[in-house]
Amino acid sequence: MTLKHIILDTDPGVDDALAFLLAFGSPELTVEAVTTVAGNVSQEKGHRNAKQLLEFLERTDVPVCKGAVRPLMRELRHAEGVHGETGLGGAILPEPEMKSDDRSAVQMIHQKADELGKELILVAVGPLTNVAAAVVGDPELPSKLNGLVIMGGAYNLTPYGHGNVSAVAEFNVWHDPDAAKIVFNSGIPMVCAGLDTTTHPDYRMGVEMFKEIEALDTRRSRLVVDLCRSIVERLKGFNLHDPMAVAYLVDPTMFKTQRCRVDVETRGELTRGMTVVERRHHRVVEEEVNAEVIVEVDAERFHRLIMDRVARG
Ligand code: RIB
Ligand code: CA
Repeated sequence: MTLKHIILDTDPGVDDALAFLLAFGSPELTVEAVTTVAGNVSQEKGHRNAKQLLEFLERTDVPVCKGAVRPLMRELRHAEGVHGETGLGGAILPEPEMKSDDRSAVQMIHQKADELGKELILVAVGPLTNVAAAVVGDPELPSKLNGLVIMGGAYNLTPYGHGNVSAVAEFNVWHDPDAAKIVFNSGIPMVCAGLDTTTHPDYRMGVEMFKEIEALDTRRSRLVVDLCRSIVERLKGFNLHDPMAVAYLVDPTMFKTQRCRVDVETRGELTRGMTVVERRHHRVVEEEVNAEVIVEVDAERFHRLIMDRVARG
């Protein structure tokens, strides 16, 4: 098994926290660094949450770097209504003591790309502001590293591929559409976990699965329950957005992807942040394909991974 070296770029965030648990609970992955970005909550809150999660996991050896405090061009529009005032739902964790790394998110991405090259995979589960800034700061970055896996976008490739923050846009892309446009057009090889599958009723965490986690009654499962409870009660389940991006790297054989040409709408009043897929088959030229979008998931294996690596650990 080839160890995959990742940087987790994140806006924790309840589902980001589950992605942490999965990433650090998977021997297939080694997390080189965590970089934080404004999104669900302010960068400051998300950075604090990242430290709390690293301390919970007893992984304060992993550097945590501060990233963008706002989108490249737009105003910060967080989602505390979804993730709670702290950003970690109902979870209460001790005040973090670990120090932030001196390097910024962009500096860390550049340094690890120079050190690890094709061994490095970026996993971005928040707005793409840090990734775009890293690309603009080093135009060679896309060819240096192995690739990028994102949770982001809504591609209209399944009946669930519509937006969540608007009729057509997914939150991470909508929050910083200018950054997303830079990243999708950067040439970096991308795999995208979009709302098409993360909100699919067969793939999300249902109430029964939540109750199964609740019944485990361990330190780790209690954290998952505290993180997810209010969303599960409100939405009758939990969309495993960010964990799906990490799960793709743990075991890509659980997923079917579709090769697409994707661009991002940045000017539309109704369509800001829409991930637009070229569907005119005669226009899809192989060389122009810039993203593999997840379109199917082996639900049984995905849920087992979540139970074993997130809830049980
Ligand atoms: O649209 C879902 C995405 O937005 C997830 O990454 C969630 O954490 C929020 O950032
Ligand atoms: Ca997120």
